[in-house]
Amino acid sequence: MSDPGESAAPEPDRPDAPAAIDTSVASPARMYDYYLGGTQNFASDRRAAQEIYTMIPELPEIARDNRAFLRRAVRTLADAGIRQFVDIGSGLPTQGSVHEIAQEADPASRVVYVDNDPLVLAHARTLPAGGTEGTTAYVAADLREPDAIFTHPDVRALIDIDRPIGLLLVAVLHFITDEEDPRGLVGRYRSRLAPGSHIAIAHATRDDRPPEAVRKMTDVYKRASAPFTFRTREQILSFFHGTHLLDPGLVHSPDWRREPDTPPSPSAAWNYAGVGLIPPER
Ligand SMILES: C[S@@+](CC[C@H](N)C(=O)[O-])C[C@H]1O[C@@H](n2cnc3c(N)ncnc32)[C@H](O)[C@@H]1O
Repeated sequence: MSDPGESAAPEPDRPDAPAAIDTSVASPARMYDYYLGGTQNFASDRRAAQEIYTMIPELPEIARDNRAFLRRAVRTLADAGIRQFVDIGSGLPTQGSVHEIAQEADPASRVVYVDNDPLVLAHARTLPAGGTEGTTAYVAADLREPDAIFTHPDVRALIDIDRPIGLLLVAVLHFITDEEDPRGLVGRYRSRLAPGSHIAIAHATRDDRPPEAVRKMTDVYKRASAPFTFRTREQILSFFHGTHLLDPGLVHSPDWRREPDTPPSPSAAWNYAGVGLIPPER
């Protein structure tokens, strides 16, 4: 686990780390990158992840299943005609990103990625614009500040808030504490979105999970740059208030429109996922 006294200097495996990035404290974005087998992580992140693996060895599979849910949700929304997406808590760039999926359906689809981790933004700046030029942006902002996100010039340049959007809050609301009122926060987003918009949410649950494993993960994240809050299905369901849940409702992530012939996943019980439609008449 990371040592609070550890030097903040870049570590040998990432000598190019920008100064503003604190490599001594594990970060959710970099830990998640490690779960997914990425290389954008530091010793503090790997130690934190390894500590959780002692109790939840299936964590890499949970992360992969979560990404698979994200891809299926984006494809579903693209098929429903959504052409603009705001992905908040987007994580470090990885394969199967939202713009790749959305632009398979329509190359003109627009995607704004939002994250508050400095490494995410540092990497985003190095990405070649390529075919996505003019259709994709990365914005440094905090989920807890919807006003700042929706008034950000890069968001306004790409996203027409008066038309339906796909708002992705995938594996990010568990970084909002109960004191920060995640249900009220989602409500602030919902009230801004045009009818026909969708909100996709995936969230970790503690329902029927071994309490000592839940405690371990919670403890490790307390020492990281953001705490982690497991929630019950009922609490997660409340985030969809004011929306119409698409089939099959709020289910374990791998079970949300699972591809045919995909076997049930042992990671299933750790996350719930769903997609809510903001109905035309409210
Ligand atoms: C577990 S990753 C999920 C990445 C991606 N959404 C996915 O599901 O594959 C969580 C991401 O949320 C970001 N995050 C956590 N708290 C945030 C906040 N308050 N505002 C913006 N991003 C946040 C982290 O930096 C990290 O990149």
